[in-house]
Amino acid sequence: MVSTAGTQSGEQGWSSRSAFILAAVGAAVGLGNIWRFPTLAGESGGGAFVLVYIGFVVLLGLPLVLSEIMLGRAGGEDAIGSVENVARESGVSTRWKGLGALQITSGFLILSFYSVVAGWVINYVYLAGGDFLGAVMSGDVFAGAFAGETQDQITGRMGDLFADPTRLIILHAIFMAATIWIVASGVHDGIEKAATWLMPAFFVLLVIITIYGALTGNFGEAVAFLFTPDFSKLSPVVLNEALGQALFSLSLAAGGLLTYGAYVSKDVNLAPTAGMIAMADTTVAILAGLMIFPIVFAVGLDPAGGPALIFQTLPVAFNEMPAGALVGFVFFILIFFAALTSSISLLEGPTAWVIDKTGWARKKAAIVVGLVAFAIGVTCALGYNVWSEVRPLGFWNIFAETDILDTLDGFTGKIMLPLGALLVALFVGWRADANMVKAQTGLSDGMFLVWRFLVAWAAPIAVSLVLLFGLVPGLLG
Ligand code: TRP
Repeated sequence: MVSTAGTQSGEQGWSSRSAFILAAVGAAVGLGNIWRFPTLAGESGGGAFVLVYIGFVVLLGLPLVLSEIMLGRAGGEDAIGSVENVARESGVSTRWKGLGALQITSGFLILSFYSVVAGWVINYVYLAGGDFLGAVMSGDVFAGAFAGETQDQITGRMGDLFADPTRLIILHAIFMAATIWIVASGVHDGIEKAATWLMPAFFVLLVIITIYGALTGNFGEAVAFLFTPDFSKLSPVVLNEALGQALFSLSLAAGGLLTYGAYVSKDVNLAPTAGMIAMADTTVAILAGLMIFPIVFAVGLDPAGGPALIFQTLPVAFNEMPAGALVGFVFFILIFFAALTSSISLLEGPTAWVIDKTGWARKKAAIVVGLVAFAIGVTCALGYNVWSEVRPLGFWNIFAETDILDTLDGFTGKIMLPLGALLVALFVGWRADANMVKAQTGLSDGMFLVWRFLVAWAAPIAVSLVLLFGLVPGLLG
């Protein structure tokens, strides 16, 4: 059946519950799982980070996923309009809609750098595709990737890419154009269709590469690395990092779920749906770790390789492994699919707001929003070459060393997302009408109490503490 939910613009909603779940899982599963999670886990020593991360997902992430989808559906508009509606119906100040504005801004900023990183992925689809083609032409379909190149040459490909602003910008433009095109095609004919094709393909590829890694790589060492916590590695900064990553990966606090929630029909039971989204996202993050680290360890590479981990270390590994050319190619296609189903949710949030606000056609709104995000992304791309000296928040010691892209990533992830989550928790836990909230969530009496406790108390306290201890040393230092 077709949902009657939608924004003021009369946008038609998801065609079914499973379509919504695929779209929301598609939004959640992305570069966050396959690029950001292994990078952070690797840098923060593995097991301890993973444990804290999972704790945040279960105790804060899951309750907040339900909160945001619920708010979106109850409000039935874009992220700002929905919160305003719920505030009005609850008899509290409509200024709470500011939380929607904060979220939309976060999503918009994330989109701008997300598309740049997705452009790197396209570059590697292209390079790995060329290697695979070369392998096929040479008659050896199962050759390693980058055959005949030294390790330095392979890792050097990343440096070559970063040194080339034109290439970075063109790739960023290609990815943004694809994102705009899908969003402009509509919720039903664009976003939903993309998710129903790309996500199943993604899962099949993910399972194949994980099995490959387990068979050919150093699986035992990877498992030990990811699941043996070394608590000496924990610090307030790591906690802040893990919280930001949990929010980022679940697509929380940046308008995505609020907006997607508005397209969910009234008869969908939200609580189990939220559970499935959180579960699928976390499973993929762990699987991505189990896919990447066995390969990293098999060839003796450094797990703390940073943002270049999947782009530099993995191609080196693929070079040395059987059928590496083929697997490398498939791997980067997989990441591309995941990135695309996420970027469309990032663009949809601000686009829905512009449509509701201005009455513009969806196509026009998507293009305008996408182009502005593209322009901001261009500064990130230039931050690797012509503006490589620029440190936008260099006066602040936690961002003293960070280039433009990392500053946007860090500022949104460590500050804006936690603030957005804090406001959602306070609004849903304390201000929104409890009866309405309970009816929307579909939780039983007992579960509702547990959920409400997590949202009203646990989330605000934990997020505040993490913000305080993660950022204040940075402010003082
Ligand atoms: N969750 C996505 C990922 O892990 C990124 C993303 C999509 C996102 N939509 C979002 C992050 C909304 C924050 C908010 O790659």
